[in-house]
Amino acid sequence: MIRTIVDSSRATLDGIAEEMAIRQTDELFILAPMGSQFDHKILQAMGRIGVFCLPFDPNSISAEDVQRLNPKGIIISGGPVSVHDSTRPKFDERIFDLGIPVLGICLGFQMWAQHVGCVVSPGAKRELGPHTLDIRDTNSPLFQFEQPREQITVIQSHGDAIQPISSMKHLLWCENALASSNVGHLWGVQFHPEVSHTDCGDEIFRNFAFQICDATKVFRAGDVAQQVVDETREAIGTKSKILLALSGGSDSSTVAYILGKAVDYQPGRIRAVYIKGVDRPEDEEHVRKYFGSIPWLELVFVDATTEFLRELEGKTTWKDKRLGVRVAYKGTLEQQIELLRSECSLQVAIYIAQGTLYTDIVESGGGLASGAVKARIKLHHNVDLGFSVPEIMPLSSQVKDTGRNIGRALGVPEELLTRHPFPGPGLVVRIEPEITEQTLRDARVIDGIFMEELRNFGLYDTVWQAGTVILNSISTATKGDDAAIGYCVAIWGKESVDGFTARWSDFTREFKERVSTRITNEVRGAARVLHDITNKPPGTIEWG
Ligand code: XMP
Repeated sequence: MIRTIVDSSRATLDGIAEEMAIRQTDELFILAPMGSQFDHKILQAMGRIGVFCLPFDPNSISAEDVQRLNPKGIIISGGPVSVHDSTRPKFDERIFDLGIPVLGICLGFQMWAQHVGCVVSPGAKRELGPHTLDIRDTNSPLFQFEQPREQITVIQSHGDAIQPISSMKHLLWCENALASSNVGHLWGVQFHPEVSHTDCGDEIFRNFAFQICDATKVFRAGDVAQQVVDETREAIGTKSKILLALSGGSDSSTVAYILGKAVDYQPGRIRAVYIKGVDRPEDEEHVRKYFGSIPWLELVFVDATTEFLRELEGKTTWKDKRLGVRVAYKGTLEQQIELLRSECSLQVAIYIAQGTLYTDIVESGGGLASGAVKARIKLHHNVDLGFSVPEIMPLSSQVKDTGRNIGRALGVPEELLTRHPFPGPGLVVRIEPEITEQTLRDARVIDGIFMEELRNFGLYDTVWQAGTVILNSISTATKGDDAAIGYCVAIWGKESVDGFTARWSDFTREFKERVSTRITNEVRGAARVLHDITNKPPGTIEWG
């Protein structure tokens, strides 16, 4: 299966033709991923609107290759670097002169704008997060919506501004920055239509594909769940044993079900390991409840508190803490691999399976294009660990919502799927001071209060994810002589679909009052409660 186009050789063209035949189309779109966090979302949006789109590696694909590939349209994504940056990904700009429609998104727009003679310079201010795009008086085919709209909310994430030139048409502005325009077949937007918090994003892609590029074929995405199961079955064969790192979150739970189906529910093949130490008490109960009595899955609990505390001792930065978690996490799983190995004959292949999502890989600095500079936002606990046995990551092309859909299709209980996501490094990314038995204990109590009150107030299902963070900030308090100072605690809730973008959730005064009173009364070290009101971008959901 072609994942990223790296040349236009006969073998590549044949591979693409085969995939197009499966999808009953002869129309190809290609995407140049320039390192944006959202590259994969563009492919998903193209999938949703029913056209076939493959990423190509801008480092190795030339204008001649593109001519041979003969796409209906080309999308160029955004990226973390400026168009002026010397580390900017390599890209053959002659591709802009081929006459094939191009949709440039942020950096992609700036690249062709500069190519046709526009000045691209640092804007007066960086445009990050949600902005209002005024679309009155436009006849741009990109912005023709089923329900006519005068304004839409768009998510922006760029620092450079494009100065328009006279040959540009259909100019649309977002506050003072040019947000969309075109020169002939070159189209561009300075916002991210691919993220869920941009209104009408799919309609913008649909307009590009069907109005601007004149695509005519629509394919129905096949049964992705079945495809993932088939690929997993092929990878693990019929005799292996699989060790699954199971946290009980929607991703690893879905992987448990994928594996179950892939081994035809044969008992004795899957051992799921739940690692205790930086988790919450409710997580362990939850896993026991849903996975404790499944005949085709052997569930074991491993208490790695000592390993976590040892690796985290003296660590004060988020980065060092994440690295410490990885060491303890990997070490614990390697011990379990050893144990499993000692229980079966040498001929039996052992695999380690994890619920790693595409989001985790991208945020850790991986992704579709080789060599494109990607911002490493945070190193996830489950990416690039280099285990001693092969890794199985059936959800590594999925994001949160598509992973959940696969789980749903395989019969994963809804409560496992709709539970708030909880990060793999657990409470470690929610405790800013040093991780000790005491700070872990406090974080558990604080999280417990917050979750309990969210449920009491009927708010748990109204937010996508919620959490609390113990901060380094110390504040005075009036708790009596021996507790006149304490740390600050931030509470947060986020609305999201996929975790790629998120907006902060508000809570009623009554709810905040209850949570604040309970945390400051019931946790001796907590002096103050703050509400985190940050969107993603520019923030992230977790603090660490
Ligand atoms: P951020 O903080 O990157 O989080 O905006 C996006 C989503 O991912 C979760 N998250 C993680 N999940 N391992 C995980 O399995 C990790 O290292 C990790 N870090 C963040 C986070 O809770 C949110 O749902």
